[in-house]
Amino acid sequence: MQAITYQKYGFTEVLTTSQLAQPTPKDDEILVKIFATTVTPVDVAFLKGKPYIARLFTGLFKPKNKVLGTELSGEIVAIGKSVTKYKLGDCVFASPADGNGAHAEYICLPEDGAQALMADDWTYEQAAAICNGALTALPFLRDAGNIKAGDKVLIIGASGSIGTVAVQLAKHFGAKVTAVCSGKNVELVESLGTDEVIDYKQQDFTQNQVKYDIIFDTIGNSNFHKCRNSLTHKGRYLSTTIDFSNLLFMLFGNMWGGKQAVFAATGLRKAAEQIVDLALIKKLVSNGKLKIIIDRAYSFEQIADAYVHVDKGHKVGNVVISINQ
Ligand SMILES: NC(=O)c1ccc[n+]([C@@H]2O[C@H](COP(=O)([O-])OP(=O)(O)OC[C@H]3O[C@@H](n4cnc5c(N)ncnc54)[C@H](OP(=O)(O)O)[C@@H]3O)[C@@H](O)[C@H]2O)c1
Repeated sequence: MQAITYQKYGFTEVLTTSQLAQPTPKDDEILVKIFATTVTPVDVAFLKGKPYIARLFTGLFKPKNKVLGTELSGEIVAIGKSVTKYKLGDCVFASPADGNGAHAEYICLPEDGAQALMADDWTYEQAAAICNGALTALPFLRDAGNIKAGDKVLIIGASGSIGTVAVQLAKHFGAKVTAVCSGKNVELVESLGTDEVIDYKQQDFTQNQVKYDIIFDTIGNSNFHKCRNSLTHKGRYLSTTIDFSNLLFMLFGNMWGGKQAVFAATGLRKAAEQIVDLALIKKLVSNGKLKIIIDRAYSFEQIADAYVHVDKGHKVGNVVISINQ
């Protein structure tokens, strides 16, 4: 099978199209023929080996896993002999167990892994782009943020993969949502149901005297110190990325009157928890309550161009890659 591999850290110059042996499913695994995947900022970080802290997971001096790709959709083309939950021909969307391996034509996944059946009317591209945003935004808002109906929630990076889902999920939980994005994305973000939009190029939300119960920085552009005065007394600052300043506030957060900074590594959650979340996400997508935004679609051969686009940091929603189509 074809796979996009890398043997050392770098950027697109280290990506190679390789011929690898097609994997064979173990007794408790399914073999998925991948029809779509994505390129995300996580793939870019793993490709570059930066920030360096990521190398604790990806390998100190060279990458442990040679195939990137954190999410996918496709069709089951072989199953292990003890598999009962799935059958040949089922179409699934998935987040692979070790957060890698989807930039290939085939992948083996454990039967009990973080995947679910696609709905009949979804495209592979739409299905492939669900996991990164939804399996990150949901645990952040619900578990780390303890979101409640009526909360005032500010989402930074509302036009990104995680941000577009976070806006919609926060509305689903009954929150009053303020989205922070650039002027060109205001219309899109409004279409996702946000109550208010702040164009960060025109206005600094930390100066508007408004207090939020949750500030969710989906892109790691701010820090707790900067946002602290914009939080309510027991407000929570959530960030998908961690830096030294935020780490200090996370450790000593209670010193500031109950306001807290929270980081979570949502990709490291147990598959069983992710499966439960995928059921809710699937329901919301199927009944039109959660839209998955696609920025651009590339072919497998154009994947390096996709990396270049994602690395610029301006994608709107998700960048998908079509494979085997
Ligand atoms: N902790 C975890 O478990 C976890 C899991 C998954 C991902 N992550 C991390 O989450 C981060 C975000 O991922 P993502 O895929 O959602 O990002 P993304 O889609 O690449 O987000 C980019 C979006 O942010 C907007 N943006 C840029 N600067 C902004 C600013 N100052 N204020 C508001 N919006 C701004 C961009 O539009 P404009 O440039 O036009 O404004 C663009 O639409 C990555 O760093 C990733 O590594 C963490």
